Amino acid sequence: MNILLFGADGQLGWQLRRSLCVVGDVTALTRPSDTYCGDLADEAGIARTVRELRPDAIVNAAAYTAVDRAESEPDAAFAVNHRACEVLAAEAERIGAWVVHYSTEYVFDGSGAAPWRESDNAAPLNAYGRSKLAGEQAIARACPRHLILRTSWLFDTWGDNFLKWVLGAAAQRPALDIVDDQYGAPTRAAMVADATAHLLRALRPELAGTYHVAAAGETSRHGLAVFALQCAQRHGLGLQAGPASIRPVPSSAFPRPAARPANSRLDTRLLRETFGLALPYWHQGVEAVVAELAAARRA
Ligand SMILES: NC(=O)c1ccc[n+]([C@@H]2O[C@H](COP(=O)([O-])OP(=O)(O)OC[C@H]3O[C@@H](n4cnc5c(N)ncnc54)[C@H](OP(=O)(O)O)[C@@H]3O)[C@@H](O)[C@H]2O)c1
Repeated sequence: MNILLFGADGQLGWQLRRSLCVVGDVTALTRPSDTYCGDLADEAGIARTVRELRPDAIVNAAAYTAVDRAESEPDAAFAVNHRACEVLAAEAERIGAWVVHYSTEYVFDGSGAAPWRESDNAAPLNAYGRSKLAGEQAIARACPRHLILRTSWLFDTWGDNFLKWVLGAAAQRPALDIVDDQYGAPTRAAMVADATAHLLRALRPELAGTYHVAAAGETSRHGLAVFALQCAQRHGLGLQAGPASIRPVPSSAFPRPAARPANSRLDTRLLRETFGLALPYWHQGVEAVVAELAAARRA
């Protein structure tokens, strides 16, 4: 299988380079690329790339992910998260390829406390969420052979994320205020990448669609921070703020340009029932990533 991967330097794209290479021949493109265009803001360029490479599957891990900045530059967010998806899906349809694309729980409005199902009504609270929803819809319209994988609260050793921010801040400050009214499942990017490799092996037209891919269990941002610091202590990372120095605060303590959903829980039953795949509890990924970061610091 020939796989064309966009966004290969993002936290998920980096993991996909590793997990997809056992499934097929991967052409991994980043925004600046030499031979082929990997810049999703260049519609003609990415169409040319697909026409030249004629992949069996396009895996799109590139995205405009600056949630707050998207409020003041929605055109830039929509160019990458919506219009580029339209182009990739149309090109995939021309050559009979699959599109595997990633989306987010930010397509939902965050109301209630029940995990969101794939069929629930999407109603994004912010420009980023609207651009991601538009991208999903464009792909579903243009290319029937698609997998849209919605995930949540991604983290890993590679790239920037909330977990690494907490570890960095706790190393420098004696106490941290962390919001305790947003709930979700912190999901290790490597696990989403590994799940993607399994899905690519199982592709059949009747299985096309949207699936939720997230770690099992749930916690608040505050719960994640406390557990991360417990792991950090176990693995010998130097900290000024320990788990007991993380103060729970409401989201209103940190006014930001983009509203965040309070309920980011994703129901992953459809993935389990359709493909027999389930990600482990979120603690497992957090413990492993903190251990790897601690080992890298000691090296
Ligand atoms: N992070 C989360 O918590 C989260 C949660 C739910 C869903 N998701 C979704 O999961 C997917 C992967 O997210 P991630 O966390 O891996 O994001 P990330 O670490 O921010 O990576 C996104 C990648 O996209 C690239 N990119 C941005 N604009 C581009 C353009 N015009 N052309 C080509 N590449 C471009 C970025 O490159 P530069 O470094 O050059 O900007 C970066 O390498 C996205 O679809 C995201 O919406 C993420």
